[in-house]
Amino acid sequence: MGILNLLLVSPAAIPERCGGDGLIGEDMGLSYRMIVLGGDGIGPEVTAEAVRVMDWFGEHRGLDITARHELYGAAAYRAHGAVIGEAVMADLREVDAVLFGATGGPDYDEIPLEIRRRDSLLRIRKHMAVFANLRPVIGYDELADTVSMKAEAISGVNMMIVRELNGGIYFGQPRGVTVSANGLERGVNTLVYETPEIERIARFAFDLTKQRGGHLHSIDKSNVLECHQLWRRIVTRIGAEEYPAVSLTHMIVDNCAMQIIRDPKQFDVVLADNMFGDILSDLAGAISGSLGMLPSASLSLPDDSGRRRALYEPVHGSAPDIAGQGIANPLGAILSFGLALELSFNSPGEAEMLRQAVHGALAAGVRTPDIMAGGGTAASTAEMTDAVLAELQRLHDA
Ligand code: NAD
Ligand code: IPM
Ligand code: MN
Repeated sequence: MGILNLLLVSPAAIPERCGGDGLIGEDMGLSYRMIVLGGDGIGPEVTAEAVRVMDWFGEHRGLDITARHELYGAAAYRAHGAVIGEAVMADLREVDAVLFGATGGPDYDEIPLEIRRRDSLLRIRKHMAVFANLRPVIGYDELADTVSMKAEAISGVNMMIVRELNGGIYFGQPRGVTVSANGLERGVNTLVYETPEIERIARFAFDLTKQRGGHLHSIDKSNVLECHQLWRRIVTRIGAEEYPAVSLTHMIVDNCAMQIIRDPKQFDVVLADNMFGDILSDLAGAISGSLGMLPSASLSLPDDSGRRRALYEPVHGSAPDIAGQGIANPLGAILSFGLALELSFNSPGEAEMLRQAVHGALAAGVRTPDIMAGGGTAASTAEMTDAVLAELQRLHDA
């Protein structure tokens, strides 16, 4: 099975969509819809490469996905005066998957604050109710020469960060900067979680852990924060009452940051709140050699037919320092599409094939600058994808 060891699409939903036998292919008349929001900076550069991979699967494996490209971010603001169109926003909830590139950067920062606040990526995540953000982290033996960690520390790492994505300090009220009567400015954000939000993400993480290595680490700062004392208490209760077979370890976030670098293999599934999950996943990028390598998938609860809304995005941002140069690493975006193959397009075999192709391209020594070591010629964004497509073709022909 794949990286997730889990097909999150409900089996009940699959026969209906697949003509009964669970196979994919043109003959089955199965088709999917995906909205692509390239966004800012390197976002459109890397999502374009993921779409090339999608096209390969369409041509060679009968996967019928229609990609609809829409503007998001600075380009959308220039065109329509909004970060994302309202009609597009509504459709994000209806399609099978959304592939998102990146947000932010100098052009984005020019957009008036009240418009950015209304339309941000955070609003998309909330609007789609994708509360469970999966960020798999793999150690690549092929990159042992470029990763700053020891080869034996990263070899065999297969960690899944489960980040709560719809709550916590990102959304808590009150928030803002006010000026008090004596003229002092005061900035406030609120870390808040209510019981059902913690229960929902805890059950998701426990379910996933049960189908992987059976070991869950829950991360908090309960030695200081009351909100995380509640987090720890509820995760403990859900574990004891509903998942007695899963081994649960609580870890305080500052220690966790150190442990991820010292001995990442101790982790199977790591559950964290919105902000800690954000920070720990960038940190874990060091294991894979570059932020440009990390994919993510964000999922809602299933609806009555078992379908989950799903947002796929590389973990990295708009990388203004390299945008427009054609040198961004597309693998985070390509592997995000790989997660969509598994989770939204009912194609776990193809997802595994794509992961093998990425290993193959790296083993062949094809490297964008962020994963280069020593001399040699760096590959462009497109050349990195060319290498993945060549590997896919080789695996397909074998
Ligand atoms: P960043 O992830 O954009 O870049 C951090 C570093 O990693 C930079 O040196 C960059 O060149 C490098 N990098 C990132 N992706 C890469 C790739 N695919 N290939 C090669 N190198 C890559 O983070 P930042 O610089 O802190 O933020 C820049 C902007 O992006 C900010 O506006 C921030 O808010 C935004 N951001 C957006 C997202 C997102 O869209 N999900 C995530 C993080 C940051
Ligand atoms: C991420 C990013 C975002 C986040 C920003 C751009 C809002 O850092 O996807 O990791 O903090 O969630
Ligand atoms: Mn981040």
